[in-house]
Amino acid sequence: MSDRASRSRSFETVAADYERHRPEYPEEGLLWAAERLGLEPGVRVLDVGAGTGKLTRGLVAAGFDVVAVEPGGPMLAELRKAVPDAEGLDGSAESVPLPDASVGAAFAGQAYHWFDRGRALPELHRVIRPGGGLVLLWNWWDERDPLQAELAELVGFAGHDPFRNEELPGEPWFREVGRTMVETSQESSPAALVGYLSTASAFLVAEPDEREERLRVVHEIAARYGERFSLPRLTYVFAFARVS
Ligand SMILES: C[S@@+](CC[C@H](N)C(=O)[O-])C[C@H]1O[C@@H](n2cnc3c(N)ncnc32)[C@H](O)[C@@H]1O
Repeated sequence: MSDRASRSRSFETVAADYERHRPEYPEEGLLWAAERLGLEPGVRVLDVGAGTGKLTRGLVAAGFDVVAVEPGGPMLAELRKAVPDAEGLDGSAESVPLPDASVGAAFAGQAYHWFDRGRALPELHRVIRPGGGLVLLWNWWDERDPLQAELAELVGFAGHDPFRNEELPGEPWFREVGRTMVETSQESSPAALVGYLSTASAFLVAEPDEREERLRVVHEIAARYGERFSLPRLTYVFAFARVS
């Protein structure tokens, strides 16, 4: 397996930790996308690269009929436990186990950058009905927060801005119809940050000794900000119309 391929599938080695430590997606971002694409409650939508269902549960709460597709068996097992109201299917963005034109929209949270875009975009176009769309979301660091600026430097994400740096879908399959950023914040602690970063692919594919050492440094840095602190977070949301 290539380095990129093994990173893309590294999460399933820590599925339960992923479920415990990773954030969900703000309702405001999901409602913005639904409005932008004209998606009514009850519409069938796909969550692709659904992991343990962090985005899936938000889509269910927003009233959609959700089918979640995920290639990692342990991730899918967590998803089925956590979000029993969604249908969970084994599959990938390049091979979605659904008929043509069967969903009003596809959503992908923190996952699009792992897809083989040359194969995934025509496949998503196939399962989305004419008039429907694609929504991509990323929960990201807020480097205006000094703690996150330090961590982003340490982890190697410093300066990454999804608005400027993501390679987004385009013609002939999709056309961007809007983008937004939602600001939220979450109570956190040094241990919670270590838990979160222990599920990042860069840490998962590191040698165990190196991973332990880097997580120890994360704890040390975070502890300087106190035992508990509020962690601001940015969620980037992009909406695309299916080109018919
Ligand atoms: C960072 S996790 C995001 C999971 C979830 N959407 C969330 O927001 O928490 C990335 C997920 O993409 C999945 N994945 C990796 N390659 C994929 C592919 N080619 N097609 C679909 N999913 C893929 C991984 O198994 C993993 O569950």
